Amino acid sequence: MTSDLEKNVVETAYARWAPIYDAVCGPVMVMGRRAAAEAARAVGGKILEVGVGTGLSFDDYDASTEITGIDMSAPMLEKARAKMASGRYPWVKDVVQMDAHHMTFPDAVFDCVVAQFVITLVANPEQVLSECARVVKPGGKIILVNHLYSEVGMAAAVERWAAKRTRKLGLRPEFPFARLQAWADSNDTAQLIERRKVAPFGVYTLVCFQRTDTALVA
Ligand SMILES: C[S@@+](CC[C@H](N)C(=O)[O-])C[C@H]1O[C@@H](n2cnc3c(N)ncnc32)[C@H](O)[C@@H]1O
Repeated sequence: MTSDLEKNVVETAYARWAPIYDAVCGPVMVMGRRAAAEAARAVGGKILEVGVGTGLSFDDYDASTEITGIDMSAPMLEKARAKMASGRYPWVKDVVQMDAHHMTFPDAVFDCVVAQFVITLVANPEQVLSECARVVKPGGKIILVNHLYSEVGMAAAVERWAAKRTRKLGLRPEFPFARLQAWADSNDTAQLIERRKVAPFGVYTLVCFQRTDTALVA
Protein backbone atom coordinates (compact mmCIF):
# COMPACT_ATOMS: atom_id res chain seq x y z
CA MET A 1 0.00 0.00 0.00
CA THR A 2 1.37 3.40 -0.97
CA SER A 3 1.89 5.72 1.96
CA ASP A 4 1.15 9.35 1.18
CA LEU A 5 3.60 12.18 1.37
CA GLU A 6 2.99 14.62 4.17
CA LYS A 7 2.27 18.21 3.16
CA ASN A 8 5.03 19.59 5.39
CA VAL A 9 7.58 17.21 3.82
CA VAL A 10 6.70 18.62 0.39
CA GLU A 11 6.89 22.22 1.61
CA THR A 12 10.27 21.69 3.27
CA ALA A 13 11.59 19.83 0.24
CA TYR A 14 10.60 22.56 -2.24
CA ALA A 15 11.98 25.34 -0.07
CA ARG A 16 15.29 23.51 -0.53
CA TRP A 17 14.74 22.82 -4.23
CA ALA A 18 13.79 26.40 -5.18
CA PRO A 19 17.31 27.89 -5.55
CA ILE A 20 18.57 25.02 -7.75
CA TYR A 21 15.32 23.81 -9.32
CA ASP A 22 15.66 25.43 -12.77
CA ALA A 23 19.25 24.25 -13.23
CA VAL A 24 18.56 20.67 -12.10
CA CYS A 25 14.95 19.98 -13.17
CA GLY A 26 14.74 22.34 -16.15
CA PRO A 27 16.65 20.20 -18.67
CA VAL A 28 15.73 16.79 -17.19
CA MET A 29 11.98 17.34 -17.38
CA VAL A 30 11.76 19.65 -20.38
CA MET A 31 10.24 17.15 -22.84
CA GLY A 32 7.43 16.20 -20.46
CA ARG A 33 6.72 19.81 -19.64
CA ARG A 34 6.60 20.77 -23.33
CA ALA A 35 4.31 17.88 -24.25
CA ALA A 36 1.81 18.87 -21.56
CA ALA A 37 1.90 22.55 -22.53
CA GLU A 38 1.48 21.68 -26.21
CA ALA A 39 -1.62 19.63 -25.37
CA ALA A 40 -2.93 22.51 -23.25
CA ARG A 41 -2.29 25.04 -26.05
CA ALA A 42 -4.43 22.87 -28.33
CA VAL A 43 -7.29 23.51 -25.90
CA GLY A 44 -6.34 27.18 -25.44
CA GLY A 45 -8.13 29.81 -23.39
CA LYS A 46 -7.86 29.97 -19.61
CA ILE A 47 -5.31 27.48 -18.36
CA LEU A 48 -4.62 26.63 -14.72
CA GLU A 49 -1.17 25.28 -13.93
CA VAL A 50 -1.37 23.31 -10.68
CA GLY A 51 2.03 23.14 -8.95
CA VAL A 52 3.43 25.78 -11.31
CA GLY A 53 6.69 25.82 -9.35
CA THR A 54 9.26 28.32 -10.59
CA GLY A 55 7.34 28.93 -13.83
CA LEU A 56 9.61 26.89 -16.08
CA SER A 57 6.63 26.23 -18.36
CA PHE A 58 5.94 29.94 -19.07
CA ASP A 59 8.12 29.69 -22.21
CA ASP A 60 5.89 26.91 -23.55
CA TYR A 61 2.76 29.08 -23.81
CA ASP A 62 1.86 32.06 -25.96
CA ALA A 63 -0.69 34.85 -26.24
CA SER A 64 -3.43 32.42 -27.33
CA THR A 65 -3.61 31.38 -23.67
CA GLU A 66 -4.12 33.00 -20.28
CA ILE A 67 -2.14 31.23 -17.57
CA THR A 68 -2.92 31.17 -13.87
CA GLY A 69 -0.53 29.20 -11.66
CA ILE A 70 -0.91 27.88 -8.13
CA ASP A 71 1.68 26.35 -5.86
CA MET A 72 1.92 25.88 -2.13
CA SER A 73 5.65 26.67 -1.97
CA ALA A 74 6.35 30.37 -1.45
CA PRO A 75 10.06 30.04 -2.43
CA MET A 76 9.12 28.33 -5.72
CA LEU A 77 6.51 31.04 -6.45
CA GLU A 78 9.06 33.77 -5.74
CA LYS A 79 11.07 32.43 -8.69
CA ALA A 80 7.94 32.34 -10.87
CA ARG A 81 7.14 35.97 -9.96
CA ALA A 82 10.67 37.02 -10.91
CA LYS A 83 10.10 35.50 -14.36
CA MET A 84 6.77 37.37 -14.67
CA ALA A 85 8.49 40.62 -13.70
CA SER A 86 10.85 40.26 -16.69
CA GLY A 87 7.88 41.20 -18.90
CA ARG A 88 8.53 38.23 -21.22
CA TYR A 89 5.32 36.39 -20.31
CA PRO A 90 2.32 38.70 -20.74
CA TRP A 91 0.11 35.60 -21.05
CA VAL A 92 0.77 34.72 -17.41
CA LYS A 93 -2.05 36.44 -15.54
CA ASP A 94 -1.22 35.49 -11.96
CA VAL A 95 0.48 33.00 -9.69
CA VAL A 96 -1.07 32.35 -6.29
CA GLN A 97 0.00 30.44 -3.21
CA MET A 98 -2.68 27.80 -2.84
CA ASP A 99 -2.99 24.16 -1.83
CA ALA A 100 -4.27 22.11 -4.76
CA HIS A 101 -6.38 20.04 -2.34
CA HIS A 102 -8.52 23.08 -1.51
CA MET A 103 -8.59 25.50 -4.43
CA THR A 104 -10.38 28.78 -3.84
CA PHE A 105 -11.55 29.15 -7.48
CA PRO A 106 -15.26 28.90 -8.31
CA ASP A 107 -16.50 25.83 -10.21
CA ALA A 108 -15.92 25.51 -13.98
CA VAL A 109 -13.72 28.55 -14.65
CA PHE A 110 -10.79 27.09 -16.63
CA ASP A 111 -10.72 25.63 -20.14
CA CYS A 112 -7.84 23.37 -19.19
CA VAL A 113 -5.99 22.33 -16.03
CA VAL A 114 -2.38 21.19 -16.33
CA ALA A 115 -0.25 19.53 -13.65
CA GLN A 116 3.32 18.81 -14.68
CA PHE A 117 5.27 16.56 -12.30
CA VAL A 118 2.85 17.22 -9.45
CA ILE A 119 0.16 14.54 -9.06
CA THR A 120 2.55 11.85 -7.83
CA LEU A 121 3.74 13.96 -4.92
CA VAL A 122 0.64 15.65 -3.51
CA ALA A 123 -0.62 14.21 -0.21
CA ASN A 124 -3.98 13.08 -1.64
CA PRO A 125 -3.86 12.72 -5.47
CA GLU A 126 -7.54 11.72 -5.76
CA GLN A 127 -8.67 14.86 -3.90
CA VAL A 128 -6.47 17.04 -6.12
CA LEU A 129 -7.87 15.38 -9.26
CA SER A 130 -11.41 16.00 -8.02
CA GLU A 131 -10.54 19.65 -7.41
CA CYS A 132 -9.14 19.86 -10.97
CA ALA A 133 -12.39 18.35 -12.30
CA ARG A 134 -14.41 20.87 -10.28
CA VAL A 135 -12.60 23.98 -11.58
CA VAL A 136 -12.37 22.91 -15.24
CA LYS A 137 -15.34 23.70 -17.51
CA PRO A 138 -17.53 20.87 -18.83
CA GLY A 139 -15.77 19.64 -21.99
CA GLY A 140 -12.45 20.97 -20.69
CA LYS A 141 -9.34 18.87 -20.16
CA ILE A 142 -7.09 17.91 -17.27
CA ILE A 143 -3.58 17.15 -18.51
CA LEU A 144 -0.97 15.45 -16.34
CA VAL A 145 2.59 14.57 -17.11
CA ASN A 146 4.77 12.46 -14.85
CA HIS A 147 7.04 9.56 -14.49
CA LEU A 148 4.63 6.76 -13.58
CA TYR A 149 5.60 3.59 -11.75
CA SER A 150 6.54 0.56 -13.81
CA GLU A 151 4.16 -2.04 -12.44
CA VAL A 152 6.24 -5.10 -13.43
CA GLY A 153 9.84 -6.15 -13.95
CA MET A 154 13.20 -4.83 -12.82
CA ALA A 155 12.20 -1.15 -13.12
CA ALA A 156 9.36 -1.74 -10.61
CA ALA A 157 11.78 -3.31 -8.12
CA VAL A 158 14.23 -0.41 -8.46
CA GLU A 159 11.44 2.15 -8.04
CA ARG A 160 10.10 0.40 -4.93
CA TRP A 161 13.61 0.52 -3.47
CA ALA A 162 14.07 4.19 -4.46
CA ALA A 163 10.68 5.17 -3.02
CA LYS A 164 11.82 4.61 0.55
CA ARG A 165 14.88 6.80 0.04
CA THR A 166 13.45 9.72 -1.94
CA ARG A 167 10.42 10.67 0.16
CA LYS A 168 12.30 13.42 1.98
CA LEU A 169 13.14 14.96 -1.41
CA GLY A 170 9.41 15.39 -2.06
CA LEU A 171 9.27 12.53 -4.57
CA ARG A 172 7.07 9.41 -4.83
CA PRO A 173 8.52 7.30 -7.65
CA GLU A 174 6.29 4.28 -6.96
CA PHE A 175 3.05 6.00 -8.13
CA PRO A 176 1.15 3.67 -10.53
CA PHE A 177 -1.04 4.62 -13.51
CA ALA A 178 -3.73 2.33 -12.04
CA ARG A 179 -4.37 4.92 -9.33
CA LEU A 180 -5.27 7.56 -11.96
CA GLN A 181 -7.46 5.07 -13.81
CA ALA A 182 -9.24 4.13 -10.56
CA TRP A 183 -9.98 7.80 -9.84
CA ALA A 184 -11.49 8.27 -13.33
CA ASP A 185 -13.55 5.07 -12.96
CA SER A 186 -15.00 6.25 -9.66
CA ASN A 187 -15.66 9.80 -10.83
CA ASP A 188 -18.78 10.57 -12.84
CA THR A 189 -17.63 13.98 -14.10
CA ALA A 190 -14.33 13.03 -15.77
CA GLN A 191 -13.24 10.40 -18.22
CA LEU A 192 -9.76 9.19 -19.20
CA ILE A 193 -9.28 10.08 -22.87
CA GLU A 194 -5.54 9.70 -23.45
CA ARG A 195 -2.48 7.95 -22.03
CA ARG A 196 0.78 8.10 -23.97
CA LYS A 197 4.52 7.97 -23.44
CA VAL A 198 6.32 11.22 -24.21
CA ALA A 199 8.95 11.02 -26.99
CA PRO A 200 11.86 10.60 -27.40
CA PHE A 201 12.65 8.25 -24.50
CA GLY A 202 9.22 7.41 -23.11
CA VAL A 203 10.33 8.12 -19.55
CA TYR A 204 7.33 10.36 -18.91
CA THR A 205 3.66 9.59 -19.43
CA LEU A 206 1.06 12.14 -20.49
CA VAL A 207 -2.43 11.43 -19.17
CA CYS A 208 -5.49 13.41 -20.21
CA PHE A 209 -8.98 13.45 -18.67
CA GLN A 210 -11.99 15.30 -20.01
CA ARG A 211 -14.78 16.72 -17.90
CA THR A 212 -17.80 15.01 -19.40
CA ASP A 213 -20.75 16.22 -17.37
CA THR A 214 -22.92 19.06 -18.62
CA ALA A 215 -23.18 21.13 -15.44
CA LEU A 216 -24.44 24.63 -16.15
CA VAL A 217 -21.64 27.18 -16.28
CA ALA A 218 -22.49 30.54 -14.71
C1 LIG B 1 8.33 18.73 -9.24
S1 LIG B 1 7.72 20.36 -8.96
C2 LIG B 1 7.02 20.71 -10.58
C3 LIG B 1 6.98 22.19 -10.86
C4 LIG B 1 6.54 22.55 -12.28
N1 LIG B 1 5.21 22.04 -12.58
C5 LIG B 1 7.55 22.04 -13.30
O1 LIG B 1 7.17 21.24 -14.17
O2 LIG B 1 8.70 22.44 -13.23
C6 LIG B 1 6.27 20.09 -7.99
C7 LIG B 1 5.60 21.36 -7.50
O3 LIG B 1 4.34 21.01 -6.94
C8 LIG B 1 4.14 21.83 -5.78
N2 LIG B 1 3.15 21.19 -4.92
C9 LIG B 1 3.27 20.03 -4.23
N3 LIG B 1 2.15 19.77 -3.55
C10 LIG B 1 1.28 20.79 -3.81
C11 LIG B 1 -0.03 21.10 -3.37
N4 LIG B 1 -0.70 20.31 -2.55
N5 LIG B 1 -0.60 22.23 -3.83
C12 LIG B 1 0.05 23.06 -4.67
N6 LIG B 1 1.31 22.82 -5.10
C13 LIG B 1 1.93 21.70 -4.68
C14 LIG B 1 5.54 21.92 -5.17
O4 LIG B 1 5.63 23.00 -4.27
C15 LIG B 1 6.40 22.08 -6.42
O5 LIG B 1 6.58 23.42 -6.79
